[in-house]
Amino acid sequence: MSNGPTPAADARERWALVLGASSGFGEATSLALARAGYRIVGIHLDFRAALQHVEEIKERIAAAGSEALYINMNAADDEKRASAIAAIESRFAERRAAGTDPYLRVVMHSLAFGSLLPFLADDPKDAISRRQMEMTLDVMANSLVYWVQDLYRAGLIGRGTRIYAMTSEGSTRVVPSYGAVSAAKAALESHCRQLAMELARKGSGICINAIRAGVTVTPALMKIPEHDLIIEAGERRNPSGRLTTTQDVAAAIVKLSEDGLDWMTGNVISIDGGEFVTG
Ligand SMILES: NC(=O)c1ccc[n+]([C@@H]2O[C@H](COP(=O)([O-])OP(=O)(O)OC[C@H]3O[C@@H](n4cnc5c(N)ncnc54)[C@H](O)[C@@H]3O)[C@@H](O)[C@H]2O)c1
Repeated sequence: MSNGPTPAADARERWALVLGASSGFGEATSLALARAGYRIVGIHLDFRAALQHVEEIKERIAAAGSEALYINMNAADDEKRASAIAAIESRFAERRAAGTDPYLRVVMHSLAFGSLLPFLADDPKDAISRRQMEMTLDVMANSLVYWVQDLYRAGLIGRGTRIYAMTSEGSTRVVPSYGAVSAAKAALESHCRQLAMELARKGSGICINAIRAGVTVTPALMKIPEHDLIIEAGERRNPSGRLTTTQDVAAAIVKLSEDGLDWMTGNVISIDGGEFVTG
């Protein structure tokens, strides 16, 4: 006799909301989810030179037979978040009028936007400021909580939703310029645990996990002053003999979002070919 409920077949229309959808892990996961049948809402922050690339991503999503709603905005801005949620609600209303039952099956937090200054420097101008510290924590960690609060209140996430937040070894290790991002990663993992517990206690059917990627060559990594050393250490330590790719993470998120994993929540999951445990 089975103790657990047997989930009914899910006939709803699957959408993914990807925060940081124009580059790196967010871009690769948006494309992989589109190929797996999801429609994509992509939040990104890009300026003129990068907008052509965003158009190319949208074309590739459309070529996969999916649909893309991309919004260029600061994901940590409360008013912009409210407008983005209104835009999702309005697109979902159109889909319901067309006879489908849409919901956000996947929410991914993959924002890279932080200060890379040390805490101590001879000249105070070269050390991190309060504003830079708070901005890094706000974008890279706390914004997850505010998005989940608003999406939950709006009823855009619910039974079956899987939330992922991108973390790194920086949550437990030190790199000279990475102090604020390390703090953000530690907070982000803690936020995932807290949200997992609260969402479960509410009987929401929503799971949330942090994804700890191995070292991956992306624009964000290349902005870290010590990136050469980080890449060299990753290549040396990774027992699988190569660095992680954005496709490794995208493929894992597609698989983890399939049916049957409703009991997996509150974890930090390594997608790194064994790099973390071979420290
Ligand atoms: N690259 C690595 O080695 C690595 C490893 C583990 C974890 N991570 C984490 O993965 C996440 C994504 O990193 P990436 O390497 O894919 O970076 P990336 O620079 O390739 O992509 C970052 C994305 O975030 C968007 N973005 C940044 N700030 C934003 C803001 N304020 N509002 C809206 N959008 C914003 C950008 O437009 C872009 O789409 C980060 O949290 C990073 O710390 C990276």
